[in-house]
Amino acid sequence: MAKKLMAPGPVPISPLVLSKFAEPIIHHRTPEFESLLADTLKQLKTVFNTDQPVLIIPGTGSAAMEASLVNTLCDDDKVLCLVSGKFGQRWADMASNFKLNTTIIETEWGKPVDPQLVKNELSKNNYAAVLCQGIETSTGTINPINEIGSIIKKHNSEILFLVDGITSVAVSDINMGSTGVDVLVAGSQKAFMLPTGLSFICLSSLAWEKYQTSNLPKYYFDLGPEKKSNLKNQTRFSSLVSHISALNFVLKEFEGEKLKQRIQYTKSCSSAFQIAITELGLSLLSTQPAPSLTAIKVPKEVDGLKLRKEIESQFNITIMGGQEQLKGNILRIGHMGFIHKQDYIDTLTAINDALSLQDYKISSDQFNTAISNFKLNMGKDYNEYFNY
Ligand SMILES: Cc1ncc(COP(=O)(O)O)c(C=O)c1O
Repeated sequence: MAKKLMAPGPVPISPLVLSKFAEPIIHHRTPEFESLLADTLKQLKTVFNTDQPVLIIPGTGSAAMEASLVNTLCDDDKVLCLVSGKFGQRWADMASNFKLNTTIIETEWGKPVDPQLVKNELSKNNYAAVLCQGIETSTGTINPINEIGSIIKKHNSEILFLVDGITSVAVSDINMGSTGVDVLVAGSQKAFMLPTGLSFICLSSLAWEKYQTSNLPKYYFDLGPEKKSNLKNQTRFSSLVSHISALNFVLKEFEGEKLKQRIQYTKSCSSAFQIAITELGLSLLSTQPAPSLTAIKVPKEVDGLKLRKEIESQFNITIMGGQEQLKGNILRIGHMGFIHKQDYIDTLTAINDALSLQDYKISSDQFNTAISNFKLNMGKDYNEYFNY
């Protein structure tokens, strides 16, 4: 039996979207595909809330993170990396690999980046760019992107603000309209509700100006030729036809008010779930919990690695644990994708039952109250909002 996927990416996918992957392949250099691509690129701009082109990269989210650096920066540029978890660390590592001159502001995992620290650091050095996660998926924390962006731009409007929106685009208010954002990246296996394999990137006009002088090595991820090909309704290399066809289908379901409804649905799910967790007597890791996922602290007397494994092996639900220093200390549950009320109830039940296998008991009164409040707090179910 297939496991219920409750991870913060990849996410469960609707059968209708999956069926797009079973359709006959059309060649990418045909008028049929070109009109599909043109429509898809147009719709992506709406999701990113921009007039600038949004480019599709055939590669996972990390590919777009790499593209953001090599297309906008130069050798030895000073880059300020705001690291509040594993993905911030990854971006800082990438930047050093490309011989950028990195400074890290490290934030305790589970807390959001403090904009005041950014302000202080900017006054000390001449930075070319600041890098930050919109939502740090390793800790389930949302960062104050508007505040940070406004501090950067007040300090110097030429400094680029690069934002990893892999678990924030289409699931929070973060988009190209957020204050000061110059580059925004996203990934298909998150709020776009598709399999892993595509990433998206959008550059502001300032970032495209910087592209002209950027001298870091690039070929496959060179965004200039890709943008040119897109103007002819083509991708530069062979297109991922099935992925793009499924993306087109999903984006139709984001049109008009529907994207706002999706963001609202995820918000209701995550806040109801986070309340239920505290009503079970458990704690959240994050002081600023994200809408796209919830990170739960594993009680001290419980073996966290065993807990996650048992939720999978005994209750058939895949959730994620902690990474690096949080390994064994947290559970992470996703709120993006094709997830219904009953999936959350099953997950809360599995967490409760797996805890009890380790003699960590939550009273049945407490459990029943948490579940009935969850049902009320979450409100409408997935299929009451959406058709697929
Ligand atoms: C915030 C964030 N950044 C980067 C990544 C890396 O993306 P990928 O694994 O698609 O390369 C992820 C993946 O979970 C993420 O959540």
